Amino acid sequence: EERFAADIEAILRLKCERNAVILAHNYQTPEIFHCVSDMRGDSLALAREAQDTEASVIVMAGVEFMAETAKLMNPGKTVLIPDDRAGCSLADSITAENVRALKAAHPGVPVITYVNSSAAVKAETDVCCTSGNARKVVETVAREWGVDRVIMIPDEFLARNVRNETGIEMITWPGHCEVHEKFTPQEIRQYRRMHPGVVVLAHPECPPEVVAEADYSGSTAGMMQFVAEKRPGKALLVTECSMSDNLAALFPATQFVRPCNLCPHMKRITLPAIRNALETMTRAVEIPDALIPAARRSVERMLDIR
Ligand code: 13P
Ligand code: SF4
Repeated sequence: EERFAADIEAILRLKCERNAVILAHNYQTPEIFHCVSDMRGDSLALAREAQDTEASVIVMAGVEFMAETAKLMNPGKTVLIPDDRAGCSLADSITAENVRALKAAHPGVPVITYVNSSAAVKAETDVCCTSGNARKVVETVAREWGVDRVIMIPDEFLARNVRNETGIEMITWPGHCEVHEKFTPQEIRQYRRMHPGVVVLAHPECPPEVVAEADYSGSTAGMMQFVAEKRPGKALLVTECSMSDNLAALFPATQFVRPCNLCPHMKRITLPAIRNALETMTRAVEIPDALIPAARRSVERMLDIR
């Protein structure tokens, strides 16, 4: 589109000048996702890409915790977040102090933390997980530690969904994604009545009652893979709105049925914000030196589980 052209041109030029890569989460708007990003994916893919990149500057078209994870993997590189208000209700729900209290109350129980968390919380964590590997991480940790119970924070719904899949007991924390907690089973049933044959895909940050109504539950990359393989005629993605917009461009034969909810944090990232980040080299993510080794270890342990 005409209105995007000048920003896109400037961003592509600045990327070369700065030796920068733009990593975009699947919830970024189509003009970011399709036109300026070098790599697109779910939280797990973005973390792996950050671990491997050879660029000197990483621009995270996503939210703060994703930029922090990229910085943990590359403490010597410049990692830019184009809008420093791009937070996350899950990351904001828990502090390092809260985690220390949980550990004191449950000694010897491993702490598995969703990557949607601050570096300070990751530093108190044994192993991180994402929605793309939560089941695998929980099963691996339970086996290796010889336990049938883990502390899984801060997303209560993700923890309960993984408990339903694995039977492993969870000590949870009452954190929720403000986007996914809004969906209801009634709403899904109503859409099934309105669109017979629709395939329903729900993100595991949704309440378990919503996941129970779905045909598939998985990370945003898992949803994309499902649509790519099964090519459903109609799909309902119970997740953030841009996910359907991005997949609609890739899979025109599938009709994407609403509802969806917007993530206000993801939507803070715009083409002008990315352009400004590359022009001014702000805001560069900083993590206190003292936190880096322990926080990084929890992410690396996750990435080692394949
Ligand atoms: P994934 O892309 O890892 O499924 O995560 C979803 C999310 O809410 C990130 O903010
Ligand atoms: Fe956080 Fe939910 Fe937004 Fe993802 S969609 S960044 S989990 S508030």
